[in-house]
Amino acid sequence: MKDNLIYTDLPPRLIELNKVVYNLFDSKKIFLQNGDNGFSSAPSNIALVKYWGKKNDELQLPLNSSISFTLGGFRAFTKVTVQGRSVEKSENHPMLFKHKLFLNNENLETKIPLKMEKIINTILLPCIQSLALEIKSQNNFPTACGIASSAAGYAALVGSIADLLQLDKHFSQDNLLYWLTQWARIGSGSATRSVFSDKDFFVKWKVEDQLPENKKIYSDTLSIPYNEKWTDLNHLVLVLDSSEKKISSSEGHQYVHTSPFQNIRLAGLNSKLHLLEQAIANFDFKKVQEISEEDAILMHAVMQTSSPKACYLTHETSDIIHSFVQRRNKLQAEAFWTLDAGPNIHILYMPSACNFIHDFIKNLEIKKSGSLKILKNNFSGGLMLGRNNFYEMKNKLNTTGALS
Ligand code: DP6
Repeated sequence: MKDNLIYTDLPPRLIELNKVVYNLFDSKKIFLQNGDNGFSSAPSNIALVKYWGKKNDELQLPLNSSISFTLGGFRAFTKVTVQGRSVEKSENHPMLFKHKLFLNNENLETKIPLKMEKIINTILLPCIQSLALEIKSQNNFPTACGIASSAAGYAALVGSIADLLQLDKHFSQDNLLYWLTQWARIGSGSATRSVFSDKDFFVKWKVEDQLPENKKIYSDTLSIPYNEKWTDLNHLVLVLDSSEKKISSSEGHQYVHTSPFQNIRLAGLNSKLHLLEQAIANFDFKKVQEISEEDAILMHAVMQTSSPKACYLTHETSDIIHSFVQRRNKLQAEAFWTLDAGPNIHILYMPSACNFIHDFIKNLEIKKSGSLKILKNNFSGGLMLGRNNFYEMKNKLNTTGALS
């Protein structure tokens, strides 16, 4: 392999993928030409035990393990097209060529984020040095307001490049997902939990506490065994504010060490993760509820006591959660809330709690003012590659509609 890896700080497993892809190019099993396309659609996810804080920014190593629920109906749709050998050089890396990014059906070219450029170049640059891609990406839910749009976006990006390279012909599905989950995390940590198949409802991003022989800390993402009853779990988001957050998650992660609550949160986390896995396997709804709600509170306590503060909550969010918990407890409804890095409230509930949810929403003050949007995630599904899946999924979600 040519010694032209420009990122020396890659996770070791990504360097392995680099070598495999390089060999496929070298033996002419992969070749690209102008106009070739790759398509992918990827789900978002909501963490029940959150990833907040990094051990290492470059390697995207989290301070703690996390567990998420896959949001199959909130998806990013990404299409990449080879646009020949661009002569325009990138600003960020003068030796690289410039890719073009268009977001959410806009005709305007958006500045390509550094992390996105790194994702693309990580795998492609050692293999093919003068490639320019056009990337068109669209979400069926609001961006950057606490619905993990970067998770879906980066998962769909690596999926579309994998489709462009037709990697599914050279890897088993499990193997391919394994590589892609490592690759997606370079763009956004939470994206590593969005690269899973339809059967993977709950996903754990696990960081190893014990150092392996090479003394490097590493992390892995795996699907968690679950009781079948969870397949009936419903999810919706009360969108109180869909404007973009002022402090990005990537920035917020940097301040965790300044919060007095950080060590308190971390201290109990490993045993909570263990209990959560057990509760997911045994369908212990109450336990999942307790652990999820507590970790959402603790994560926001860390955010709000960091310096500088990352305050995502509004009074409205707190009031709605308060009345949700009161009524839920009174009715013993199988429903719980959680939050991402934003003011919008995620609610997860079993069919037995549908009436409670319906009445709760109907009576919300903000509902009466007409400014509440409710996003229903009514589809389960994992990462999908290929043109047919892409259009089939797009049509399905357009007709069922995430927005109501
Ligand atoms: C609050 O994955 O968005 O959503 O790795 O810097 O891109 P980067 O951060 P990101 O952080 C997500 C934080 C969270 C909790 C979670 O999803 O676990």
